[in-house]
Amino acid sequence: MNVLVTGGLGFIGSHTSVELLNKGYEITIVDNLVNSNIKVLKNIQKITGIKPEFKEIDLRDKKELTKLFECNNFDGIIHFAALKSVNESIKKPKLYKENNIGGTKNLLEVITSKKHRTNLIFSSSCTVYGQSKKLPIDENCPTNNIESPYGETKIKCEEIILEAVKKYSNLNAISLRYFNPIGAHESSLIGELPNGIPENLIPYITQTAIGIRNELTIFGNDYPTRDGTCIRDYIHINDLALAHISSLNFLSKVKNKKIYDFFNVGTGKGITVLELINMFEQTNSLKINYKIGNKRKGDITSAYADISKIKTKIGWFSKKSISDALKTAWEWQKRISNYEN
Ligand code: NAD
Ligand code: UFG
Repeated sequence: MNVLVTGGLGFIGSHTSVELLNKGYEITIVDNLVNSNIKVLKNIQKITGIKPEFKEIDLRDKKELTKLFECNNFDGIIHFAALKSVNESIKKPKLYKENNIGGTKNLLEVITSKKHRTNLIFSSSCTVYGQSKKLPIDENCPTNNIESPYGETKIKCEEIILEAVKKYSNLNAISLRYFNPIGAHESSLIGELPNGIPENLIPYITQTAIGIRNELTIFGNDYPTRDGTCIRDYIHINDLALAHISSLNFLSKVKNKKIYDFFNVGTGKGITVLELINMFEQTNSLKINYKIGNKRKGDITSAYADISKIKTKIGWFSKKSISDALKTAWEWQKRISNYEN
């Protein structure tokens, strides 16, 4: 199977590319490097022994995208390319719309301008649920409570993908609504590369542990949870990568049927911020310097997935432990300072 991976040099895309190559898929990576480093390509090659095709293309550039599709037939496309900062999206909603929705529209237009049958997997997010009244969150929970322009782009992309599947006979698609991906590849050759001060908890923890940041601030400890801190469903990056391959395989087995569906991808277990910090400390035998600060605007109290739909229909479920994710995240942080090598 010939698979196009958009955003394939990013955090989730690079781990998925490695798993695809390890399983014998031929892949082409497209990335504009807005939030990734070309060295990731070399490290994907180091891990797998295979140099994937790479094209530096911005998905907003329809001419370049069309050229790529003129020379290639992709049986599968995994569409990661997007901007992902909730905060930045509040400051630059137009950029997020143009990049995330515009890029997805271009991609759909070039796919559907061809006759070749394509299975598309789209990176969506649990952010589409906002603060769900029902926990764990299943796929029937409402998506009308989105708090950021970033989240709006995700639900809009899901909608236009559904429309395209209905309209064009050569397209089937799945949207995967990820919960909180963490960890790094066991080789420590690829991982998360946050730009500037991290917004997310794990890179902030690892940067504090290594001394780049003086202390971690826990955003609030008076939420109505078991220890007052927010609850999330942290999913090992390797398990998440495999969810894409399982989804592609599921679609490739479907014959003579139109499919669009969407699935939660998490572990099904909620962990508080304090519990995660404790697990990090125990797993890696170190102490994190932290303080309790104010709540972060827009944070939801609790989000964890009901994963029965993906388990039943696709047969995917998470296998790796959170401790393993925390260990690999720390190993990765220690290596990043040597990333030039
Ligand atoms: P990332 O920023 O590490 O990777 C995204 C990649 O896409 C980057 O390499 C970036 O350079 C590229 N890109 C962005 N816009 C592009 C464009 N117009 N053309 C070509 N390339 C472009 O992010 P990630 O964490 O790997 O996330 C991948 C996807 O998963 C994104 O769609 C994100 O919204 C979604 N997602 C991420 C999380 C998370 O917590 N990491 C959670 C839910 C959903
Ligand atoms: N947190 C801290 N201190 C920090 C960073 C985070 O206490 O320095 C807390 C947050 O308040 C939250 C938890 O750690 O309770 C997790 O925060 P993250 O920023 O790592 O993750 P979020 O769940 O807030 O956000 C993630 C993605 C978003 C996506 C959202 C969907 O980063 O892109 O999930 O709910 F929109």
